[in-house]
Parts: sequence; structure tokens; C-alpha cells
Amino acid sequence: MSTRPRLVIVGGGQVAATLISHLGKTEPRWDITLVSEEPDLPVNRPLLSKDFLLGKVAADKLPIVAEGLYDKLGVTRLFGVRACSIDRASRSLHLEQGDPLRWDKLVLATGARLRELTVPGAEDTHLHYLKTRADAEALQAAMARGGHLTVIGGGFIGLEIAAAARSKGLAVTVLEAQSRLLSRVLAPEVSAQFAVWHRDNGVEVRLDAGVTAISPCEDGRQRLRLSDNSELLTDSIVVGIGVLPNTALASAAGLACDNGIVVDADCRTSDPDIYAAGDCVSRVHPFYGQSLRLESIDNASHQAALIAASLQGAASPEAQ
Ligand code: NAI
Repeated sequence: MSTRPRLVIVGGGQVAATLISHLGKTEPRWDITLVSEEPDLPVNRPLLSKDFLLGKVAADKLPIVAEGLYDKLGVTRLFGVRACSIDRASRSLHLEQGDPLRWDKLVLATGARLRELTVPGAEDTHLHYLKTRADAEALQAAMARGGHLTVIGGGFIGLEIAAAARSKGLAVTVLEAQSRLLSRVLAPEVSAQFAVWHRDNGVEVRLDAGVTAISPCEDGRQRLRLSDNSELLTDSIVVGIGVLPNTALASAAGLACDNGIVVDADCRTSDPDIYAAGDCVSRVHPFYGQSLRLESIDNASHQAALIAASLQGAASPEAQ
């Protein structure tokens, strides 16, 4: 049995892969277990809505870090397994199946879950979402059937899928509930330019367009009712209406949460033996001086580097 301290990472996304990659740069010091509800190694998610969706990248190119590094570090991989609760007193993580895992340091890299469309009829309709490799494969198959694709949500996911679908020759409508595209992240002038680019690419962009109901047509298509009372008939629907941080595990364990798991400069939660990073985290940004929850690969990778430095007793990358 290993005598190294036990590090348990919950969540198999960008944070987990980046942290493992940093820990792989020095002699193995930790007995690492990665618990992920997804069936695969952490994948490069941006590829899913672009090159993988278009069939330009094979599935074996998706992992952020190759399997060999996990082997080299002796990482125990518990995939397809959900963590259900944290017992801080006994420092153990309870899983949906199997024995609890004891940890000396715990990293919560639980990310965010997709917001679901909840309008009448949505639960009886086959709606595509895009987060995992399986989601991308299902959407790929729908796109291969051609026809008309409706994209609900004019954010990052929606617009990347719209561009991919156009390049495969589908007719595409984007329905954005706000008065401009990408309003969460872009200034109005840049949003307007994105609308021009997508319209020039043949996408029908409809702004201020909420969906109020969905129902099946007899011919197999779907009928969308919109907030202006118009209707739209479509062959496939994909939804990209944002994400919600996965904080339930942390808050049930009594860790401070406020629009994300609250962490300090080193990404430690209110329990110093528990770290958190990525989309699920709210941290005071060193430049803006206020708490922010950022949904980006760069942020996840940076925070994973901060955790790696803290675990290795090295200077924080922000201090260098
Ligand atoms: P998002 O927050 O970027 O965009 C969601 C869009 O949906 C917003 O424009 C919002 O106004 C709209 N919306 C919300 N409810 C709606 C409704 N009922 N009907 C119509 N429109 C509605 O989130 P998105 O695009 O779902 O992406 C999810 C996550 O993936 C984000 O964290 C994003 O940053 C990330 N992502 C990043 C990429 C990149 O960095 N290249 C690529 C793809 C996704």
C-alpha cells in the first residue's frame, strides 16, 4: 500500500487534466484518485463543438492529457462514478457505488452543468445538448441527416454549432432570447459584428426570440412556438442556453458558496484541506479585485496551476 498522502480529485474536466499534467512534472508525491461521472479521460471540450463535430478530429485525439501520464503517476481512475457527499470529519468522499475514499487533500473540479430548456413539450422532444463526447456524436449523426437545424441560444455553444452545421450544408436558425448575440461576454458592437458574420454565412439569426412551446408534427419534424407567437418547423433542435455551477457537493459539506464555491488566492475553500477550481468557483480576481466566477478554459487551467503549486509547496504562479 502506498505511503504517499492521498489526493482525491472530483470531476474529470480541464482542471483535473491540467492539475495532473502539472503534478506529472515532478517526482510522484501523491497517491491520486480521479473520480469522474463521465466515462472517458478528461477531453478537450472546445474540440467537441468544432473539429470533432465536423469529423476532422478522431476520438482518440480528444483527451487533454494522454493516458500514459495517468499511468506514470499511478492515478486511480474511477470513471462513470458520481461522488455523493463529503465527510470532512473523517476526510472521506462517499460515492454512489463502492467504498468511501479517504483523502488528505481533496480537489473539487465539479464544473458546471448545462441549463435545460423547460418550456411545455420540451420533456417529450429529443433535444440535443453539447457537453460530452456522446452528446457531440449524437449531434453529428443528426447533422448527417441534413435538413433544418434550430439552435436555441446565441452564445458560444450555439454559434459554434451553427457554423459547423452550415459547413455541412444544413439550413440553420439561431433563436436568441436577448436582443443581441453573446451578450454575456461581448460588447454590443462586437455582438452586432457576430450577427453580420453568421447572417453572411447563411444563418437565420432571430433576436428577442424566446421559445414558448415545442410539439411534434406528424411528418417527424418539430414545431416551435416563439414568444412573438410565430411558429417554426424544424428537423433537429440543439439547446445551448448556458450553464449552472455544480456547488451542491461543496455546500452540503458546509463549504462557503456564493455564485460558486468560494476560494482564496491559492484556490483553497473555507476548509484548507479542500481546494476547488474552474467553472464551479468564485475567486477574487487579482486584476479586477472582485469575486468572479469565470467560465473559461484559461481560467480552469490557471486555477489548476495554482493548486498544483500549493500542493507542491511552490510559489504561486501569480507571485512569479
Ligand atoms: P452562454 O452563456 O455563452 O450562452 C447562452 C446564450 O443563450 C445566451 O446568449 C443567452 O442569452 C441565451 N439564452 C438563454 N436562455 C435562452 C432561451 N430560453 N432561449 C434562447 N436563448 C436563450 O452559454 P453556452 O453557449 O450554452 O455555453 C456553455 C458554456 O460552454 C459556457 O460556459 C461557455 O463559455 C462554454 N463554451 C466555451 C467555448 C469557447 O471558449 N470557445 C465554446 C463553447 C462553449
